[in-house]
Amino acid sequence: MQKLAIVALLCAIALFTQGAHARRALLQTSTGNTFPDYECQANPGLSPYKLEGAYTTSPSANGVRVCFTGAPVQPCPPSNPCCSQADFYKLELRVRPTCRRAIRSVTVNGLPAPVPTFTLYGPSRDKALFKLPRLNLTTANVTGAKICITLRDPCPNLAALCPEGDGSCTYSIGQSTGRHRCCPVNTLGVVPPPPSQPSASVATPATHRLLSSAAHVVSAQSEHHRLPGNTGVFPSNGCDRTPGSMPFTLTGAPTLSRSPSGQNLYCFTLASSACADPSSMCCASNLLKVEWSSYDTCRGSVRAYIDKIQYPVTWDQGGTFRLTKLNYSPLDIASKPKQLCIELRRDGPCDTIDKFCRGGSCTYSLFNTGKECCPTATTPTAR
Ligand SMILES: *[C@@H]1O[C@H](CO)[C@@H](O)[C@H](O)[C@H]1NC(C)=O
Ligand SMILES: *[C@@H]1O[C@H](CO)[C@@H](O)[C@H](O)[C@H]1NC(C)=O
Repeated sequence: MQKLAIVALLCAIALFTQGAHARRALLQTSTGNTFPDYECQANPGLSPYKLEGAYTTSPSANGVRVCFTGAPVQPCPPSNPCCSQADFYKLELRVRPTCRRAIRSVTVNGLPAPVPTFTLYGPSRDKALFKLPRLNLTTANVTGAKICITLRDPCPNLAALCPEGDGSCTYSIGQSTGRHRCCPVNTLGVVPPPPSQPSASVATPATHRLLSSAAHVVSAQSEHHRLPGNTGVFPSNGCDRTPGSMPFTLTGAPTLSRSPSGQNLYCFTLASSACADPSSMCCASNLLKVEWSSYDTCRGSVRAYIDKIQYPVTWDQGGTFRLTKLNYSPLDIASKPKQLCIELRRDGPCDTIDKFCRGGSCTYSLFNTGKECCPTATTPTAR
């Protein structure tokens, strides 16, 4: 009788342990339990909730405002409670341990939400996350909802805030009750171009690669994940950077004046110049675009003017800023130089040209129509 009781007890223990294992396996997060900081169902395919891959960055009075947008309700298996019963109570962002003081405020559709909490976790407490609670979204109102955070030093943008370092960020969505333990993990990190820009430039192959890498969360979890195409060389498309190969130049240092709306206006003169090698095909080609190496954080606080008329600007990942579709012939510029002006908002994160130009010196590239030639030079510092 006693023996039987012991056998039954052992069986019960075995079953219980097995159950616990099964439960753990079911709850294992897709990031190998490194994010978020608790055991939960991280599979994003089971959840109706997701944020758009793209976010916006704009200067605000207290720092830099970054806004995320709720994506439309995602298809998911209704039999799973993470699909049918979970709400969108909180957002968790995986951040660097040094960013404790970075998030100043949170709003949902413009209304203030509670101050987020910062948590260090992991065996050596070298991982960190922000929890943004009480966002109170549901499948009825998540679509298009705007969740904005205001960032400040030492982590004034997503590249500085999140360990990915390239402007992408891993996040999880949590519910108001702990019952189902759903924590769909995803990555966001596609910065859309500013609204003034021609739509053609939105659909670059790089953007598509970026969009798909943001969608493939599990494969994009590596800490060393980098955006495609960002090799650190400017410009990065393998063109011929030899200075002076095209019959154009930006002359002298940019001049500073006040724009009609009271912002800082830096103007460069685009003039003709003798080619280093007059027989090269670069010397005979039209000017398609001018690119500057800037920062992603400057998006949203920059406008451009050519001969005093506003001109659409284009941004690429990694902070490349450009004026494109110029199509100036050597003769156009020889007969009349153009004034290219960059307007920098005085309340933005890039209010002066040395903050706008990456590394403080204004390196620019001119491109011919075929983009084979990209003579690259640096203009002297503004006076
Ligand atoms: C979410 O709901 C809670 C409780 O009803 C409330 O205190 C909080 O202010 C709400 N948050 C937002 C952003 O509306
Ligand atoms: C979304 O709906 C929930 C539930 O009705 C509500 O508490 C919350 O305030 C709504 N949020 C927004 C941003 O409309």
